[in-house]
Formats: sequence, structure tokens, C-alpha cells
Amino acid sequence: MLLQNNIDIQTANLTLKNERPAVNTDAIGIFDSGVGGLSIAQCIEKQLPNENLLYVADTLHAPYGEKSPQFIQQRVNEIAQWFIERNVKAIVVACNTATVNAIDQLRQTISMPVIGVEPAIKPAANLSKNKKIAILVTKATAENQRFLALVGQYSYNTQVTIQPCPGLVELIEQDKKNTAECKSLLNAYLLPLLAKGVDTIVLGCTHYPLVSDLIKDICGNDVVIMETAQPVTEQLQRQLKLHQLINSNSRLGTKAFYSSMHCSKQQALFSHIWQRPLQLKHYP
Ligand code: DGL
Repeated sequence: MLLQNNIDIQTANLTLKNERPAVNTDAIGIFDSGVGGLSIAQCIEKQLPNENLLYVADTLHAPYGEKSPQFIQQRVNEIAQWFIERNVKAIVVACNTATVNAIDQLRQTISMPVIGVEPAIKPAANLSKNKKIAILVTKATAENQRFLALVGQYSYNTQVTIQPCPGLVELIEQDKKNTAECKSLLNAYLLPLLAKGVDTIVLGCTHYPLVSDLIKDICGNDVVIMETAQPVTEQLQRQLKLHQLINSNSRLGTKAFYSSMHCSKQQALFSHIWQRPLQLKHYP
């Protein structure tokens, strides 16, 4: 069911309400369970510099990868409601786990463009020379039927290994990426894939590009690592064009960052990843 302006539709957990028709100067809402979605937001900022961005990290409830589909859907609905109240013109679900678990129900309840993160399985299967690829994901993604169906589409000619990586998101969120613990966790997940002869690895969680340098160190130059920020940005751009919502303002867009676990440590982590000092505000 499509949401018309000023009509409320009761979903399982809350009412999503579109307040007014979007205008092109409205912000784009981007969210993730934490800092992972910044890997997508950075690409959006680079390619669509005039757009105003509103980023929400639901850090208090991370990792989504260890939560139930119902819990994830509830979080997604709540954040979408918050975005709608702030008149965003589009929502980017910058999280693979939230995309596979909640994007279909979200698209049924709101009428604005909702862009999700689809793992690059198709390009990886096409690129792989020996037709052995792997995809690194969270536990909740690995168990999701929508995701398994996507993997199934390529299994006829490509051996696809699904590798859940529990613990990795937590280490990234705690800014422990450069620790022996993080390296040994990555070794534990990646070395068996290399032993299998995998030549292409898809990063199926938006946190993982934040450790792609470590992944490349372990895998070496012969293994291709595939990220999804670029195709997500292109899809966002296509959707904005289609709805005539590209911001025609010539000034640089504003960027605002919110976290449900607001503290100085979080602000330092955000600033470090964003490569500029930023002010982190409290969500909601
Ligand atoms: N960054 C997320 C993803 O793309 C979620 C990680 C988590 O919270 O477990 O899957």
C-alpha cells in the first residue's frame, strides 16, 4: 500500500506519516546501526556535494547483525518516522542487514524513494575468473531468506561462500580496528576462504569497507574486494532525477550527524572516519 500525503498508515509497530510533498532542497536521510553507513555517506557526499545529508547511527542498538528481524524492522520504522518528521526527500538504508530485513515493508508504507544496499554478488560472479566468490556478512544477513534467494540466483555457475563475521562490527564500533584482536578475527574469517581458492570477495556489510585495508593486506593483490557505495550512490542519483528531486542549489550541502549513543568517544570516531571534525548530535 502506498502512503498518500497526510494519510497515516499503521504498520506493525508505528504510524509512518508523510507530512508534505518533498522539495529538492530537502535533506537525504541516511542511516545504519553505527558508523558503517559513513562508507556510503562519504561516496554520496563526493558525488552529490550539493545535497543536504542527515545521518543517523543507531549505535545504542548495534550490532543489528545479532538481532531478530522483528527488532530490526522496529528500529527501521522508528528511524524512518524521525526522518519523515524532518521532511527528508529520500531515505538511504546504508546497512545490508536492515535492507534485507526491513526494506520491503518500509517501501510499502512510505511513498518517498527508499534506497537500500544490495551486495555486489552479480558483478563479483561476472568478474571471478575461477567462479569462486565469497561474501562477508552479518549473522542476521546470512540467515535472511531474501539474501539467500539472491545468492541462489548465482549458484548455478558460481560457488558462493557465505561468511558471517560475528564480532567484527563491535570492534569497528569500539575503534579497535588496528588491534591484534581485529587482525586475528579477520584472519579466522578470511584464511579459510583463501584456502578454498576464492578470487573475489564481496563486502556485504557497510562496516567492512572501514577495514578494507586490513582485508586487502590479508588477501593480497590477487583477490578482488568489492564494495557497494558506488552503485548505491548511482541508484540514489537515478531515483532523485526520476522524482525531479536533485538539489539544484550551487552551494555545498549541509551535513548533520546523529547517534543514539552520543558521547565524546563516538564523536571522535565519527570525525576520524569522516576525516573532518564534526559535531555529533543526540538521536532522537
Ligand atoms: N552495517 C550493517 C550492515 O551493513 C550492520 C552491522 C551490524 O549492526 O551488525 O549490515
